[in-house]
Amino acid sequence: MSTTKGLEGVVATTSSVSSIIDSVLTYQGYDIDDLADNATFEEVIYLLWNGRLPKQDELDQLTKDLADNADIPQEILDFMKAYPNKDVHPMAALRTAISSLALYDDQADVMDEQANRLKAIRLQAKIPTLVTAFSRIREGKDPITPRKDLGFAANFLYTLTGEEPDEIAINAFDKALVLHADHELNASTFTARVCVATLSDVYSGVTAAIGALKGPLHGGANEAVMKMLHEIGEVENVEPYIRRALDNKEKIMGFGHRVYKNGDPRAKHLREMSKKLTAITGEPKWYEMSIKIDEMVTGEKGLLPNVDFYSASVYHSLGIKYDLFTPIFAVSRTSGWLAHILEQYSNNRLIRPRAEYVGPDKQVYVPIDQR
Ligand code: ACO
Repeated sequence: MSTTKGLEGVVATTSSVSSIIDSVLTYQGYDIDDLADNATFEEVIYLLWNGRLPKQDELDQLTKDLADNADIPQEILDFMKAYPNKDVHPMAALRTAISSLALYDDQADVMDEQANRLKAIRLQAKIPTLVTAFSRIREGKDPITPRKDLGFAANFLYTLTGEEPDEIAINAFDKALVLHADHELNASTFTARVCVATLSDVYSGVTAAIGALKGPLHGGANEAVMKMLHEIGEVENVEPYIRRALDNKEKIMGFGHRVYKNGDPRAKHLREMSKKLTAITGEPKWYEMSIKIDEMVTGEKGLLPNVDFYSASVYHSLGIKYDLFTPIFAVSRTSGWLAHILEQYSNNRLIRPRAEYVGPDKQVYVPIDQR
């Protein structure tokens, strides 16, 4: 038996949801650059779940379904208010809240395709409300009910702040959602597929995926990037900070990728958004620091920024607290997880690889009083 550490390069399944070929990312065959420039997040959800772009009436129906299902059972909001520690990380709160949703869905364990598709809509609709509700509850504020006349991106920002966002914020947030929606067999998507391949339910798959996304080597990196930018503080501090980190062989968050060795195609969109938004907010230093870090890490290590690097300054410019960055990633990636979960169910086989045993051999049991 031979092993590949971290399953690098191992092809574990077939999928038609998204692909990364020669550093080009596509969703159902559409280049991410094309979708980032032209599609809304609702269109991308439809594309990922149905394999084609929606016609207008189909998009209207999905938009309505998402708005109609965005509310959260009061019991879950009350449960959030009762969490023992308001300083709990919002990803931990989200993981628990998503799992709790299953308890209020009488179809949670119904496994036919139609029931699973309806659950997908309910989950996609409710996840942003869960994130914004928890954010408000921990600040001692009441959660805000999503508005049926606002789109997905606008509703997120509205239920977070209570204020109707402007077009610039809506468009930037929507584009960030499009860019994060799916990414082939990344760690959290693989987790979701492994989970539901046991024929466990959709809620279990998404809960498991959130657990995997939480880690700093995956979705948690965007928050870590913002923490680093705050620690650095000013552009002139970048050089000594990054020099010391590189000399100490520390990982610079937001750089490197298991699959892309020629750069992450999503990063350039977020870099442009970061430039634009930080100029609008009058805080270009977050972009300028990011560019300087990028130049140093790319120049000295040959490591390129991934999706998490510039998304940090984008979300910060939208006034979002940095521990919500990874939950926002989850809000978007839920669309991809659900597409993969539906695909897994449609052609399922239990995912059960092997391990090469490297432990001790031929041990003989010793009674406890003789050890
Ligand atoms: N900073 C400094 N050095 C790095 C970085 C980094 N960000 N990333 C990789 N390296 C170095 C490693 O130390 C290693 O060096 P070595 O060979 O001298 O030991 C070499 O590059 C190879 O790196 P691995 O960690 O083996 O690469 P792997 O494919 O296992 O990991 C990963 C990829 C996890 C993304 C890694 O690059 C990393 O930890 N980056 C920082 C965290 C991050 O940004 N994660 C988000 C990824 S994108 C996403 O999930 C949304």
